Formats: sequence, C-alpha cells, structure tokens
Amino acid sequence: MDLFEYQAKELFVKHGVPSSEGRVTDSAEEARAIATEIGKPVMIKSQVKVGGRGKAGGVKYAATPDDAYEHAKNILGLDIKGHITKKILVAEAKDIAAEYYISFLLDRSNRTYMAMCSVEGGMEIEEVAVQKPEMLAKIPVDAVKGVDLAFARSIAEQGHLPADILDAAAVTIQKLWETFIGEDATLVEVNPLVRTPDNEILALDGKVTLDENAEFRHPQHLEFADIDATDPLELKAKEHDLNYVKLDGEVGIIGNGAGLVMSTLDVVAYAGENHGGVKPANFLDIGGGASATVMANGLNVILGDAQVKSVFVNVFGGITSCDAVANGIVKALEILGDGATKPLVVRLDGNNVELGRKILADANHPLVTIAQTMDEGADKAAELAAAK
Ligand SMILES: Nc1ncnc2c1ncn2[C@@H]1O[C@H](COP(=O)(O)OP(=O)(O)OP(=O)(O)O)[C@@H](O)[C@H]1O
Ligand SMILES: [Mg+2]
Repeated sequence: MDLFEYQAKELFVKHGVPSSEGRVTDSAEEARAIATEIGKPVMIKSQVKVGGRGKAGGVKYAATPDDAYEHAKNILGLDIKGHITKKILVAEAKDIAAEYYISFLLDRSNRTYMAMCSVEGGMEIEEVAVQKPEMLAKIPVDAVKGVDLAFARSIAEQGHLPADILDAAAVTIQKLWETFIGEDATLVEVNPLVRTPDNEILALDGKVTLDENAEFRHPQHLEFADIDATDPLELKAKEHDLNYVKLDGEVGIIGNGAGLVMSTLDVVAYAGENHGGVKPANFLDIGGGASATVMANGLNVILGDAQVKSVFVNVFGGITSCDAVANGIVKALEILGDGATKPLVVRLDGNNVELGRKILADANHPLVTIAQTMDEGADKAAELAAAK
C-alpha cells in the first residue's frame, strides 16, 4: 500500500524522524487557518500518490496565510498526471541549505534490503540516476544486522554528503531505517532530505510503501487505506478475505489457485474475441478450501458488479474435491436465492470430478450450465455474456 506524504510523515513523527510541522486538509479556508496557527511561511503541497508534484505546480510557497489560501484554492482539484488533488498538506516552510536523497527499499533481485543515498537530491534524482550513476550510492543492507548509527553514517558518506554533516545525517537516516523495519515497509524514500542553515537534517518529503502481507502486525495501518479510491466491490471482497481484483469486462471469473484463475482470464479473453469482444470482469481466487460460504461470498461480490453478464466458475478439485465444490455451488445458489440472477458456467475437473458433475446435474439449477473443458466453458460463458 502506497501512502500519501502526510501519512508517511505521521510514521516519521512516530519514529522520531525530524520533519516539518504540518497538517492535512481538504479546504482552502482551513489551509489559511493552519498557516495562521503555524505562524510562519508554509508550503502548500498537493497530496497525490504520484511523483513530480513540484514540477506540476502542486507544491507552492506561501509567505502569509492569505497566500496559503490562494495556493490552496489553486492546488485543490489540480490534476497531476491523472491524479486529482483532494487534499493538501500545509507544512512549515524550512530554510534549505542543501537537498539530499535517501531511501531504503527491498532489492528483490539481490534478495536483500538496499539503501540509496545521494548528495544530489531534490526534484531531479531520476536524472542523477541515469546521467551520474556514480553520484547515487547503492548500498546493500543486511536484514539481520540492520542499520546502526555507524552504518547510517557510512551510507551518508558513500552518498557523498559533506563531512561536516555526516553525524547529523546519520541520526536521521538511522531513524528512517527504524521506520522502514518497524512499520514493515518495502520503501521509505525521502527526497529531499534537507540540510538547514542551522545544520539540522530534515525529511521534507516522504514516500512510504507498506507491505500488505504484514498488515496483521499493524492493525493501525488500516487507517491509511484510501477508502474513497478503492473500488466498493474490492472493499467488500476484502471484508471476506477474498483475493479479488475488479477488471473492466463482462464475464465474472471464479477459480481456485492464482495460476488457474490467471489462465482462465486469458482463455476467456481469447474466447471473447469470437463473441463481440467480451472480456473477463474480474480476478477472483477462492483458494483451496472452496466451501459453500466462500463460494457464496465470491458469487455475491461478482454478481454485485453491474457490468457482469455471465459467470465462469473454473475449479480444479484437489484436496477440496469436486463433489465438495459442487455442493458448495449448489448451497451458494440456495444462500443467494433471488440474488443469483446471471447465468453460471461451471467447469470442474480433478479429484472426484464425476461425482461433482452429477451433483450439479441432479440439482438442475436453471442458471447453471456444465462445461466439460476449460475452453468449452470459456466459450459458453463468453457467448452468454455477449447474448445479454
Ligand atoms: N516544508 C518545506 N519547506 C521548504 N521547502 C519545501 C518543503 N517541502 C518541499 N519543499 C521544496 O519543494 C520541493 C518539492 O517538494 P517535494 O519533494 O515534497 O515534492 P516533489 O518532489 O515534487 O514530489 P515527488 O517527490 O512526489 O516527486 C522540494 O524539493 C523542496 O525544495
Ligand atoms: Mg520529493
């Protein structure tokens, strides 16, 4: 989960990373009030989850509360690379002597953590990385040893930060590492890491990505979820612990196992070419134990998608055998009752397939069509979706 800058800074405060005082708001009036309260010049900063806000006019200096109001009015609603600004951060404007770059991230290809540091921070770091790679230090970080003060200092030194500021930089960098580890982040990036004329080292920007697999350790991270931006069906699926991704087509998909579901999407997209270009409406993996409740929850989410015209259930029976899955489907349809309104094509294969098909045939549900193969099922589901 990517965080907004103001959320990243909440975590910075929690871990003692020095930053600049500020508050988030969605109103220009309140921006004026916050600026008055801070009592110093402020920066008005668009809160969107995309880089390059400054260059796009989303970061402005306001000397007075009235300036803050004016800039806030202009920045609220501002479109930055397709992201509309709904909130702004009003943060104390700090005097800047130099801008540096620091990040901690997961280096997947080397199976380790990595620190990146550069004396040439600010808005052009991407160009530094391309044109002067020697100025951007990339330093592996041992996950067990982590980053102590001495190592943090060495990171700063390898990034060519000036000698007289290394000790101060080490303190901030070490706290950023604590944020990275303590919050189970996969990215903590600060650009710019600023040196003030008084030789303070402050994180004036913050990009944090949290590892959603570690959410169970951080119930408080749920607050960061951007409910407004999340598809309501995805939220509903999440409540039921379903692995669901909404897509833009007409054929609802349910399968067990991510690999099978992904190939089902491909097969349905391919079959759809012969049926007016219908496409898969979602990814939904109901996992190993395809119980009636899980099946009902899954169908419920998919049928809640107004775009869906038909559903293809493609299950390979393993430990959960086909008869259990078939019973699950029958019971799910009972649970849903009148809520089940769209045709269902079911393809079962694997363990106990004959019995599974028999259960479905005996139930003889008017909405259910049994397919013998995946291709046949995909074709039938696409045909039904196109016919609607
Ligand atoms: N609190 C602040 N005080 C003074 N200057 C600031 C402050 N926040 C940002 N700036 C200035 O504005 C520039 C851009 O701000 P920031 O880094 O937050 O946005 P950005 O880099 O454009 O966005 P992104 O990092 O998402 O690409 C900074 O490099 C810095 O010079
Ligand atoms: Mg930045």
